[in-house]
Amino acid sequence: MVDSTTYIIFGASGDLSRRKLIPSLFNLFCKKRLAADFQIIGIAGRSWSHEEFRRISHESLLELSDVKAGDEEWNLFASHLTYYSGDFNKPETYQFIQAKLAEMEIPGSNHIYYLATPPEYFLEIITGLANTDQLKEENGWRRVVIEKPFGSDLQSARALNQSIHEVLDEHQVYRIDHYLGKETVQNILVARFANTIFEPIWNRNYIDSVQITVAETVGVETRGKYYDKAGIVRDMFQNHLLQLLTLVAMEPTSSYKADALRDEKLKVISAIRPILANEVDQHTVRGQYRGYTAEPNVVPDSQTATYAAMRFFIDNWRWQGVPFYLRSGKKMAQKVSEIVIQFKTVPHRIFPMQNDFNASSNLLTMCLQPNESIHLRFEAKVPGTQADTRSVDMDFNYRDEFGPNSLPDAYERLLLDVSTGEASLFTRADQTELSWQLFDPILKGWESSRAPTLSIYEPGTWGPDESVRLLGQDQCEWIQICGG
Ligand code: BG6
Repeated sequence: MVDSTTYIIFGASGDLSRRKLIPSLFNLFCKKRLAADFQIIGIAGRSWSHEEFRRISHESLLELSDVKAGDEEWNLFASHLTYYSGDFNKPETYQFIQAKLAEMEIPGSNHIYYLATPPEYFLEIITGLANTDQLKEENGWRRVVIEKPFGSDLQSARALNQSIHEVLDEHQVYRIDHYLGKETVQNILVARFANTIFEPIWNRNYIDSVQITVAETVGVETRGKYYDKAGIVRDMFQNHLLQLLTLVAMEPTSSYKADALRDEKLKVISAIRPILANEVDQHTVRGQYRGYTAEPNVVPDSQTATYAAMRFFIDNWRWQGVPFYLRSGKKMAQKVSEIVIQFKTVPHRIFPMQNDFNASSNLLTMCLQPNESIHLRFEAKVPGTQADTRSVDMDFNYRDEFGPNSLPDAYERLLLDVSTGEASLFTRADQTELSWQLFDPILKGWESSRAPTLSIYEPGTWGPDESVRLLGQDQCEWIQICGG
């Protein structure tokens, strides 16, 4: 339960608001985790009435999310929803919001301004709010949630951070990466640091390689305009995949406090060996699914990658020499996000184990989605043989253990954290810039003569063959455990 709070959602008629924000706020309401005095104000260009906003939000909730809404609960929740149309480019919009808030709120209420808009409006909105004195924390706290993409390269991210810091203190800024709100992603640190058994072997002495896969079966759908400019690196690697890598690789912190965690994450990213523009052909692979250029709002000769695979090394004592293989793509064979820790094989074989290097090495696999689970693969004796071995799995499954509805949507957790001022799962300014610093040279290299070929892959596959060759150079291969 938090203090009296008003959520002001910019871009409230869009997909994110309908699919994620309203359903998550509704869920928090049903769990009695919103303040008794809360208001949700939607602002967007469309001229909807309050009633239309409520009706459309309700329909989306029933159609698009897992939330089961009882009519009575929904009606109660909906009585807190209002909608106003406004042009983000006009100062009157912000004056109007200010006046509305003064009219409808309890004095001293807190404000969460959620920027669920295309990125070109981020600064416009923040400036409009600052010009009407809405970001000052004299009478209740003021927090601004900023969606991704945060900038499109180092320069733009830095400029955005600078402009934001002119009117907001860093403690008021919540840069979202929804992957951090996923329970299974948070469990990476719990598995590592709430147990004694993994940490002693979590290093170059025992770990052979780390694989991180985030694969989707969908294509770009209706997002061609955004995606064709962004591509897979800006859309997935610079944020989600890099976050996963830092959680796997970071050092333990002394506490679970936001800045302690963010400092350690920053150290990992600083230690990642940059892939220089003239090295992209050695360490990266890029692909585009067949049919991508025929998608709506995609240019017909687009060179945008919808798939990438990369090999990184981390130059520190823990990880020296251990490759981190990252891959992500659209229109892949399965929707699956997983992290596979491949351990070294035994130094000397006394049993007739399989010769295949992958088959007999121990694997710890974290299935982030779907089938959220953790699996440990190890060798066991085949009964009835003298000493033959076979790989077997020890499994932990979230839903079996905690119940079928135990995994809330990432946005639910993140919205609650913004309300309580818990910033651990949000990205600090310095991390956004360091992340771009890592991926800028790769994107530059992809535009140069050293660019790896943009391979066309068939929808429903695991991407271009080159990604198999990338790992083959290290006598390694992609492993897929999760997703069936
Ligand atoms: C978003 C990307 O950040 O993450 C999308 O912009 C992608 O392109 C989505 O589809 C994937 O999220 P999830 O939670 O479905 O894995």
